[in-house]
Amino acid sequence: MRQHQKSYGVKTVAACLLLLVGTTAAAEYADIILNKLSEKEGMRPVIFSHWFHRIRFQCRVCHNELRFEMRVGSTDVNMDDISQGKFCGACHNGEIAWTTENCDLCHTGAPGLSTGVRGGHQTLGPGIW
Ligand code: HEC
Ligand code: HEC
Ligand code: HEC
Repeated sequence: MRQHQKSYGVKTVAACLLLLVGTTAAAEYADIILNKLSEKEGMRPVIFSHWFHRIRFQCRVCHNELRFEMRVGSTDVNMDDISQGKFCGACHNGEIAWTTENCDLCHTGAPGLSTGVRGGHQTLGPGIW
C-alpha cells in the first residue's frame, strides 16, 4: 500500500511538470488576445503575435525590462502607457517598429474575443482571429 501511494505521487508530479512545459511551449508560438479594456472602450481586441515577436527579441526584453508578466491577462496595459513609451510602445515608436498611430494594426481582433492564448505552434498574424 505504501509503495503504491509513493509511485502515484511521482506520477502526479510528472504530469504537472508536463502540463507546465506544454503551456509554455504553446504560448511561445501562439497569438495572444488582449481584451481587458479595448472592446469596453470601443476598439477591437488586440492580437499580439507572440511567436513573431519572440523570434526577434529575447524573453527578458519584454518579461523583465518591459514588465510584461508571463501570464496572459495579468499585466495592466493601457493605451496611455503605451503612447508614453511603455509596454508595446517601447518599440512601436517609429524607431524599432511602426508607431502607435497605426491603431488598426494592433486592434485587429474580431469583436467578442476574450483575453487568452489562441493557436498552436505558429503565428497566424493580425486579423486572423
Ligand atoms: C515582444 C515582447 C515579448 C517577448 C520577446 C516575449 N514575450 Fe512572452 N508575452 C508577451 C506578452 C505581451 C504576454 C501577455 C502578457 C499579459 O497578458 O499580461 C506574454 C505572455 C507570455 C506567457 C504567458 C502565456 C500564458 O499562457 O499565460 C509566457 C509563458 C511567455 N510569454 C513566455 C515567453 C518566453 C519563454 C519568451 C522568450 C522565448 C517570451 N515570452 C518572449 C510578450 C513577449
Ligand atoms: C502597438 C499596438 C497598439 C497600437 C498601435 C494601438 N493600441 Fe490601443 N491598445 C493596445 C493594447 C495592448 C491595449 C490594452 C489591451 C486590452 O487589454 O484591452 C490597448 C488599449 C486601447 C484602448 C482601451 C482603453 C485604454 O485606455 O487603454 C483604447 C481605447 C485604445 N487602445 C485605442 C487605440 C487607438 C485609438 C489607437 C490608434 C491611435 C491605438 N489604440 C493603437 C495596443 C495598441
Ligand atoms: C521589443 C520590441 C517590441 C515590443 C515590446 C512589441 N513589439 Fe510589436 N513588433 C516589433 C517589431 C520590430 C515588429 C516588426 C515591425 C515591422 O515589420 O516593421 C513588430 C510587429 C508587430 C505586429 C505585426 C506582426 C505580424 O504578425 O505581422 C503587431 C500586430 C504588433 N507588433 C503588435 C504588438 C503589440 C500589441 C505589442 C504589445 C502587447 C507589441 N507589438 C510589442 C517590436 C515590438
